[in-house]
Amino acid sequence: MDLEAFRSLPEWPLILRESWETNASWWQAGFTEGSDAEYEEQIKPIVRLGLRGAHRVLDLGGGDGQLARVLADDGADTVVLDSSHAQLTTARIRGSSAVLATGAALPFQNRSFDAVLICLVLEHVIELDEVLAEVARVLEAGGRFLLLLNHPILQTPGSGFIDDVELGEQYWRLGPYLREDIQMEEVDAQVFVPFVHRPLSQYVNRASDRGLTLVGMEEPAPPPGFVARADEYRQVQEYPRLLVLHFERRP
Ligand SMILES: C[S@@+](CC[C@H](N)C(=O)[O-])C[C@H]1O[C@@H](n2cnc3c(N)ncnc32)[C@H](O)[C@@H]1O
Repeated sequence: MDLEAFRSLPEWPLILRESWETNASWWQAGFTEGSDAEYEEQIKPIVRLGLRGAHRVLDLGGGDGQLARVLADDGADTVVLDSSHAQLTTARIRGSSAVLATGAALPFQNRSFDAVLICLVLEHVIELDEVLAEVARVLEAGGRFLLLLNHPILQTPGSGFIDDVELGEQYWRLGPYLREDIQMEEVDAQVFVPFVHRPLSQYVNRASDRGLTLVGMEEPAPPPGFVARADEYRQVQEYPRLLVLHFERRP
């Protein structure tokens, strides 16, 4: 569905909020506490390296707090903020300091943090500009903003590996990459997650408009633990599932 048309529905905030209340236990079982190879082998090391030396970190959309705890182990003072009560209940049980709020209205003073982390959240968020404005507001000048996304080029609706048995070929079919839209994707049996698709330039340019300058970018190959699970796709290592953007708050 077209993103602007979805945003004109009065019930859209409820639809998005409810989806994470419903899906929190699915997420926690499949992606936290060591259950997911991509988090263990790739995301946690990238976050640790990208925010090394940070003192006060906001993990926005932090879910059960698994990444905040990695940074806390390295000595940072961390806060997990999420709009899902179910995620934060687990975050607190697992030892994180947690705040229930939306990323579009952060309950923190200006320049409260020297780093903000957002991992696999903005592709579920409609209010991109509001969230980026809030990130810029709560960051001190020179502060780091580390953004991890499902790579937009792979997450484009209608994309995926095609197995052409007749030609003996496998290739990646790319859907309408430039069209911004939202889809409820069935990511597991009876698990529906709202996915917002935007081209990469939207993230970079709209962050820049808010005072966040891109200073680095990574497109890592999938880690061995993921490749082992997808061994029917010969070229899986040549397609980056993850996009990592490093921004700095301009003074
Ligand atoms: C895929 S999970 C990622 C959790 C965590 N960042 C991680 O990497 O383990 C997405 C999280 O974003 C949260 N979320 C979605 N929209 C949000 C919003 N507008 N404000 C705050 N959190 C939001 C959801 O509740 C969910 O916990």
